[in-house]
Amino acid sequence: MLVAAFFVALCVAAACARAGEAPMPVGADANDPVLMSGRAIWINRCARCHAPNGSGGAGPRLAGKVTNAYPDASAEIAVVRNGKGSGMPAWKSVLSEADIAAVVDYTRRVL
Ligand code: HEC
Repeated sequence: MLVAAFFVALCVAAACARAGEAPMPVGADANDPVLMSGRAIWINRCARCHAPNGSGGAGPRLAGKVTNAYPDASAEIAVVRNGKGSGMPAWKSVLSEADIAAVVDYTRRVL
């Protein structure tokens, strides 16, 4: 019984790993300094809840959805700045406005 639970836990951990790595900007955006800094912030601050590839976890999926949910980037910036509900932290006292703009840009253009 315990052994089975161990393997279940192992599978869950493996599934988490398969949520992948934070994607790199590609094409014309490759090496864009703002997107690269946004990616670093994403990895350090956001990926643990939204998954490295943005597919979701404790926080909702953002990849491929966030521009529909927030057609205007400033609305998404406001969520990141001020938080949302009980689960999404406010970042305004942690990240600069430039950092918030960069990580939001990353979620919209790369994830
Ligand atoms: C502690 C976990 C956690 C961390 C860390 C976190 N988030 Fe969230 N995030 C959430 C949760 C939970 C929600 C859903 C909030 C709700 O709708 O009540 C959310 C919602 C969001 C939304 C709104 C999604 C929507 O469809 O309305 C955006 C955008 C977002 N997060 C971006 C980020 C960014 C960018 C970072 C890093 C700076 C980040 N989050 C860090 C948990 C987290």
